[in-house]
Formats: sequence, structure tokens, C-alpha cells
Amino acid sequence: MSSLVKRMASPLQVILTILLYVQISVAAGVAAAPGVFGALKLHRAITSGGSSDLLWALSACVCGALAYFAYALTVIFVVPMFRLLAPGTPEGRYPYYSFKAYQWASYNALILLVRYSCINFLRVTPFLPLFHRLMGIKVGRRVQINTAIIGDSNLIEVGDDVVIGGDVTLVAHAAERGDLVAERVRIGSRVTLGLMSVIMPGCRIGDGAVIAAGAILQKGTHVGPGEVWGGVPARLIGGKGADVEGQRGTSSE
Ligand SMILES: CC(C)(COP(=O)(O)OP(=O)(O)OC[C@H]1O[C@@H](n2cnc3c(N)ncnc32)[C@H](O)[C@@H]1OP(=O)(O)O)[C@@H](O)C(=O)NCCC(=O)NCCS
Repeated sequence: MSSLVKRMASPLQVILTILLYVQISVAAGVAAAPGVFGALKLHRAITSGGSSDLLWALSACVCGALAYFAYALTVIFVVPMFRLLAPGTPEGRYPYYSFKAYQWASYNALILLVRYSCINFLRVTPFLPLFHRLMGIKVGRRVQINTAIIGDSNLIEVGDDVVIGGDVTLVAHAAERGDLVAERVRIGSRVTLGLMSVIMPGCRIGDGAVIAAGAILQKGTHVGPGEVWGGVPARLIGGKGADVEGQRGTSSE
């Protein structure tokens, strides 16, 4: 049975990939339609009395750009509706070729649609926490997110007053030895995740902690409240309770 699954894996993956393309095409199309409709109306109104080529081109381009931003503000509401089909990344360990892995892929494909089409214009705005909240993240108040690279939102918890710095990678899954491993990530309040740090599955970060710029926090790491962790792989480098010379590389929990 397992050899049959392995033999069928590639054709199955192609078929499922095409199905996912259909799913995200519908989501993208539905999200684009209102902006395109409004832009067409506006463009027609501007150029209705006859216009020079320059005015026509200017109007078409500005209306097109407005349609793009209208898409960005619409897609963050349309994509979460597709959670009826793809509710989230399941927690646990499961093979690449399994129904749970398909659930992981179909859910994250929705997030990727937003990531690759418009997310950079949503960074450090209230729209990005709102989108991830609708996708299932538990996120507190006054959280600033300056990264496109958050996956598995339904398995991530973030407290109040957190700063998720530029280009942080925050995911709750890892591919390991033929399996996908997905484990909840918990981030307390007043935490700073430094520029380009990587937070792996199963990490827990206590209130007021700082993860230094460029740090890689290995899977399952527990960072205590007020601690500062940095480096690759990340080690305790300072903060509350740290005797840096004596305790570097140990967790306080
Ligand atoms: C880790 C950090 C908080 C340390 O700042 P600080 O408290 O002012 O401390 P210092 O700069 O004096 O450095 C203290 C020690 O940490 C080390 N350190 C500083 N930045 C580090 C980093 N990114 N990775 C590893 N070690 C780092 C220093 O080398 C120093 O080590 P030493 O005591 O052995 O000499 C800061 O460098 C940082 O990375 N902040 C994140 C900011 C950020 O990215 N915000 C979000 C995006 S804007």
C-alpha cells in the first residue's frame, strides 16, 4: 500500500497543485473584481467627454493602480472565507503524502496568495494583523508586523505590544525526515523579534523577551520572560536573570 502511495505521489501532487491553482485563482479573481469594476467606472467618467491620449493614459494608469490597492484591501477578507475548505495547519507529525499534509498545503497556499500578490504594502499597517487574525492567529493589541513570512497562522499566538521585525520568519511547521512536524508557537506580550530572526515550530517566548537581529531560534526553544537571545543557533546573551558569562546557551525554563 505504501509503495502504491509513493508511486502515485507525483501525479497526485500535480493534480492537487492544479486544484490549488483553481482555488487561489477563484479567491484572487473575486478579490480583484470590485477594484477593477470601480476603476473602469472611474476611468470612463474621467475620459467620457473625450480626452487627449496623455489624459487617457494617465487616467488608465492611476485607475489601474487604485484597482490594485483595492484588491489588496479586499483579498485580506476574501481569502479567509476559503478557510471553509482549508481551515488550518493540523498540529502533530504526519507524512508528506497524507491528508493532513494536504490540509497544511491548501491552507498555506491561501496565505501565499496574499504574500506574493500584495503583502509588502500591508506591512506595519493594522491590515496585516487583521488578515492573520482572520486566518486564525491569536494576536493581541498594538502588534506591529513588518514581515511577509508568517505561515501556519492558526498555530501562532502573539500577545500585546509585540514588534515582529523586518523579514522575520515565523512558522509553526518544519519538513523533517519524510514528515511534516507542526507545533504551536507562543509569543508573550512586549516581545521584540529582531530583524530577520527565524522562529521555528514549538518555540515559546516569554513576556518582554528580545530575540536579536539575525537569530535562529531552534525548534522547541523556551525563552524566559525578559531574556535576550541571539546568534545562530540562538543562545541566551542577556536580559533579566542572565549571567551572560556563566549561562550563555541555557534556557531559563
Ligand atoms: C540583541 C540586542 C537587543 C542587543 O542590544 P543591547 O542590549 O543594546 O546590547 P549591546 O548592543 O550592548 O550588545 C550586548 C551583547 O549582545 C551581542 N549582540 C548584539 N546584537 C547581537 C545580535 N544581533 N546577535 C548576536 N549577538 C548580538 C553583542 O555583541 C554584545 O555581546 P558581548 O556582551 O559579548 O560584547 C540588539 O542588538 C538587537 O538585535 N535588537 C533587535 C532590534 C530589532 O531588530 N528590532 C526589530 C526591527 S526594527
